[in-house]
Amino acid sequence: MRELNNVVGIVTGASRGVGPHIAAELARAGVQLALVARSEEGLRATAEKIGRLGPEPLVVPADVSDEGAQRRIVETVRRELGPAGILVNNAGIEHITRFQDASVESIRQVLLVNLFGAEAMTRLVLPDMLRAGRGHVVNIGSVGGRTAYPYATINSSAKHGLVGFTWSLREELRGTGVGVSAVYPTLISDVGISAGWQAGRRPPLLGRVGPDEVARAVLKCIREDKVEITVAPVMEKVADVVSALSPRLTAWIARNGGIYKYLRGVADAQTRSQQHSEPA
Ligand SMILES: NC(=O)c1ccc[n+]([C@@H]2O[C@H](COP(=O)([O-])OP(=O)(O)OC[C@H]3O[C@@H](n4cnc5c(N)ncnc54)[C@H](OP(=O)(O)O)[C@@H]3O)[C@@H](O)[C@H]2O)c1
Repeated sequence: MRELNNVVGIVTGASRGVGPHIAAELARAGVQLALVARSEEGLRATAEKIGRLGPEPLVVPADVSDEGAQRRIVETVRRELGPAGILVNNAGIEHITRFQDASVESIRQVLLVNLFGAEAMTRLVLPDMLRAGRGHVVNIGSVGGRTAYPYATINSSAKHGLVGFTWSLREELRGTGVGVSAVYPTLISDVGISAGWQAGRRPPLLGRVGPDEVARAVLKCIREDKVEITVAPVMEKVADVVSALSPRLTAWIARNGGIYKYLRGVADAQTRSQQHSEPA
């Protein structure tokens, strides 16, 4: 979709982290935005910032893992702004832990928000997009959805799911005018889930990218109908390509490059901080 002026776009996870950056990029392109997350306060702060860049955004506080809320989001947006032409499935939670220490509830929550939420939201906006013969869905995946990401195993499985969802639905919708893309960031700097990870020195093989680079990739996917964009330093982009040819080789490099040890450190630090915050 080249022309985005006044196209209605839903961005989930817009209350903090990379979501407000994606929203700002789309607002600058003229998209009429609906901002979704659970925190109304966070959404209002985003709306205030991006209201200066483009049309005044609609704030829709809601939980994307809840079926009733998903329907309410899409109905509210349709009623207030019109049918959505863009959906960015960005909302996500993480649980970094040794897998055997994860509760069933935390596995359920990560899959519900990161994977089920994205698929169910997409299913709800598709009829309007197909009727219009125009639309675009962008799923925010992760480099951890392309290769082994131990200790982020639950997130990795949800993000691998998003890759299959993106490619399969994209092929299914070929010729309809509706595009489906995925953006795979490596660790994001300054804001977001991993900004506060405490685990000593990050191995040189594990880079960081700015949130605006992720936002620009989302816009590029929509404008140029790219199937996927990996947002990472060059070495990790190369690893991404190598991984498609030999997942074993990429795993070997990551293992020997200290990436898994670093992730184990993140998991152990998170477990320790949870234990401290739980009442004795
Ligand atoms: N940060 C990174 O290093 C990194 C790397 C690769 C991929 N990613 C992906 O990028 C996306 C954004 O991550 P981030 O780093 O910006 O995370 P973040 O700062 O924790 O923000 C997550 C956003 O999702 C929203 N959210 C969480 N659960 C929700 C729910 N049930 N319903 C609706 N909204 C919900 C949060 O808002 P509320 O809490 O107000 O609901 C917040 O707006 C995620 O999909 C993540 O997996 C991040």
